[in-house]
Amino acid sequence: MARVAVVTGGTRGIGKAISEHLKTKGFEVAANYGGNEEAAKACEQELGVKCYKFDVADYDAVGEGLTAIESDLGPVEIVVNNAGITWDAPFHKMSKEQWDKVIDVDLNSAFNVTRQVWDGMRERGWGRIINISSINGQKGQFGQTNYSAAKAGLIGFTKALAQEGAKKGITVNVVCPGYIDTEMVRAVPEKVLESIIGTIPVGRLGKAEEIASMCGFLASEDAAFITGATMTVNGAQYIAG
Ligand code: CAA
Repeated sequence: MARVAVVTGGTRGIGKAISEHLKTKGFEVAANYGGNEEAAKACEQELGVKCYKFDVADYDAVGEGLTAIESDLGPVEIVVNNAGITWDAPFHKMSKEQWDKVIDVDLNSAFNVTRQVWDGMRERGWGRIINISSINGQKGQFGQTNYSAAKAGLIGFTKALAQEGAKKGITVNVVCPGYIDTEMVRAVPEKVLESIIGTIPVGRLGKAEEIASMCGFLASEDAAFITGATMTVNGAQYIAG
């Protein structure tokens, strides 16, 4: 039977490309979404993946969503913690709401989802957790103290959890995309974005598919010995040591 993969924020942007890629690799994909019904419908029609609406920032809502997925499709064996938002502002203008919201959606969500599939993965002796961080969690970004903190948090979460999953056949890795051609990046003011592209040695934005193929590899049997790793996919914009 096909292994079941949950992709949070899986109906748009990088998440949609991941859902599509995992489906073509033969996984049974459940794409989570927060509220955009149109995108979810398009995803079901175009990709033929089932979409599930729940708020990843709400632990109980995640529990209900995962119960629905498992009763429809079977035990969740792969999780891609991809859901994320930005709410940029320089720190002197950042409100408590801006801080909390980004930490809840981008970091606490990974706890909410992973914690509720973890015991099952341990019992079955197999699992794949793939966390989607960001170049800006590695290097920091002006205007993104909230987002950079959340995304750096995902890297620490990955490194700790990988050690706990290792003996149970569960790998835990983190992917750090650079600037990828998605709605989120296109929302950056044009002049700012132009200057950012100027700092990418490859000379272009990345493609969502270039993140998806990395996730497909990490989900595969071939990647069984890769755990606790930070996979940088950024066109050499930032080369971490
Ligand atoms: N470095 C240094 N100084 C900067 C700066 C930068 N990158 N950006 C702005 N400033 C300066 C301005 O020049 C200005 O200086 P003065 O006060 O001396 O004139 C000061 O900071 C304040 O600027 P603004 O009043 O224009 O600030 P603002 O309230 O309009 O906010 C901003 C500016 C929101 C930070 C805006 O610059 C911005 O959106 N930057 C892009 C942030 C970014 O890269 N976001 C990534 C989104 S995509 C993503 O996150 C996906 C992923 O994982 C990669």
